[in-house]
Amino acid sequence: MLISGRGSNLKAILQAIEAGRLHARVEAVISSRHDAGGLQYAQRAAIDTLVLDGCDYPRREDYDHALQGLIERFKPDLVLLAGFMRILTAGFVRQFRGRLINIHPSLLPQLRGLRTHERAIEQALPMHGASVHFVTEELDSGPVFLQVRVPVLAEDDAASLAARVLQQEHRLYVQALQLLADGQLGWKDGQVLYQGQPLHEPLQINAG
Ligand code: GAR
Repeated sequence: MLISGRGSNLKAILQAIEAGRLHARVEAVISSRHDAGGLQYAQRAAIDTLVLDGCDYPRREDYDHALQGLIERFKPDLVLLAGFMRILTAGFVRQFRGRLINIHPSLLPQLRGLRTHERAIEQALPMHGASVHFVTEELDSGPVFLQVRVPVLAEDDAASLAARVLQQEHRLYVQALQLLADGQLGWKDGQVLYQGQPLHEPLQINAG
């Protein structure tokens, strides 16, 4: 799993594994920052942690090449991005095509990029949420397979909206991973398959 900061999605995934709600194993956590708070959750769970600091690699290609090398040591089935705040090179993404998964705090294709909660409020969107998707070369653009919708309330500011979306992200990522772990959802020849059939629209979970 790749993180850069707080690591609350990592924490939720580790808790779900611990509770038997998710049949998966986190082999390693790699952070792009030394001070990522999320590293503590991996350390507590005795999971290998590594830091690959962007400052040590001025060229993006060199960083991603080193990152690829670290990941390959663990031979993971999936590479999960959870608040990994770096734009990945096309070469890196191609290397892990169909195995690279990201969570993004918006109803993609709406609100790609940063500050999604502020922008949802600025644009007076009635509905916000989060998406889990396969990563492709373009930023926040790969096929989305699971979403959760979170209504924007009249009294919301960016912080209150972000907090409600984050709560739902934790459920969303776990459910997305369970679909992948069960083999219900997969990637074949550039297409997302759900129960063996091409998935044309993202599946939705109810906000709990
Ligand atoms: C989450 O809200 C995640 O969706 C977002 O970063 C946060 C990480 O939180 N990711 C992106 O914005 C990616 N474009 P966490 O470190 O507590 O899991």
